Amino acid sequence: MTLKSIRGTKDILPADSAIWQAAEEAIRRVMMAYNYQEIRTPIFEQTSLFSRSIGELTDIVSKEMYTFLDRSEESLTLRPEGTASVIRAYVQNNLGEQSPLSKLYYVGPMFRQERPQAGRLRQFHQFGVEALGSSSPQLDVEIMLIPLEVYRSLGIKETTLFINSVGCPNCRPIYKKKLVGELQKIVNKLSPESQARLQQNPLRVLDSKDERDQLATNDVPLMKDFLCSECAAHFDGVQSALGALKIPFLINGRLVRGLDYYTKTAFEITSTALGSQDALAGGGRYDLLVEELGGKPTPGVGFAAGMERLMMVLQKTGSVQTKQRVPAVFIIGLDEQSRSWAFVKATRLRSLGIPVELDYLGRSLKAQMREANRQEAVHVLVIGDSELKSGTARMKNMKTGTEQLIELEKIEDALRSA
Ligand code: HAM
Repeated sequence: MTLKSIRGTKDILPADSAIWQAAEEAIRRVMMAYNYQEIRTPIFEQTSLFSRSIGELTDIVSKEMYTFLDRSEESLTLRPEGTASVIRAYVQNNLGEQSPLSKLYYVGPMFRQERPQAGRLRQFHQFGVEALGSSSPQLDVEIMLIPLEVYRSLGIKETTLFINSVGCPNCRPIYKKKLVGELQKIVNKLSPESQARLQQNPLRVLDSKDERDQLATNDVPLMKDFLCSECAAHFDGVQSALGALKIPFLINGRLVRGLDYYTKTAFEITSTALGSQDALAGGGRYDLLVEELGGKPTPGVGFAAGMERLMMVLQKTGSVQTKQRVPAVFIIGLDEQSRSWAFVKATRLRSLGIPVELDYLGRSLKAQMREANRQEAVHVLVIGDSELKSGTARMKNMKTGTEQLIELEKIEDALRSA
């Protein structure tokens, strides 16, 4: 039987890795500009970390986690997202005591056993940030600006920022009761999935993609109209900070997100270049999560963005030009002694950071020239007995076809000035 990768996972092949690297460079540049520091947490954690933070009744925890018992019968889970792990690390390592505001970012793989489709994988990658220690609405907007700046710097134009407020434990239970009452009146018009959700996670009925639900819930009350004074003031603060920066946004009162830890701000950034899985990034505020995971009460806000979805947009819009990496010189050795000289020389040049390629397949001069061409090597240097004796060789520029006589001892100078 031939071995294959797991359904919903993807190899990132050399042909694609240049564009991934370009995106990762853009991400790190933006993180630096906004003064976020990288945190790397383990790929797997205790299962209870995710069930306690994301919420037992969410799709992620109830249906999608890769959970297994290790050999000591401990329940472990491959991280389905980054926030829970970052907060766990923040609490465990007392990062809050080291500075009043921790600004952390991460880039890495996440795992969810969802039904694979375009833009939805079982192993996917996210870049994201978590900022811990401030409840300022300006910080919420800073968090929205980071992915927007990454997209802008990569030449992606068609994005839409949707914001909402999901309230807090003061106002949400009152609203939830009201919502459940209204939904019960129209329960027969809802999809079977939403009927089941009505009891357990009624807010999620609002962002159902099923047309029946959308039609039936057209007039139900929305959280944003039931906010307590503190949440309403915070939501106003977010909107005026966005306004001050002239960042276009839309309020979507149905945006509730699929994770339970949010309080106040929730947001998503979508792209029309994507299909039904159109969310490029999502995030929001979670002022109770640090305390729920055993830390001191600490407000927090963050986002995460899908890398594969970013790649889909980049490939569609062709907005990133990646430079193909090519050898600065392809050294061809004509005999045993020349090959051995070429091997030593190549190693020396490589240690200086000059990309060099050689033949390891014992090919003929003609075949090696063809290979140098295929690899788009900038120069070719052919070394034989007479070149070694004279200490000089002709280096051919493959683009212009011109040849230059160089001293073998000074190849690096010749390459630098060529
Ligand atoms: P999320 O909305 O579950 O939020 O995921 C964020 C982004 O990850 C999505 O907008 C999407 O681009 C990408 N994504 C999610 N699932 C998949 C998948 N199966 N395949 C491909 N891409 C996917 C979170 O994960 C929160 N931790 C965000 C956050 C950080 N909130 C506060 N801090």
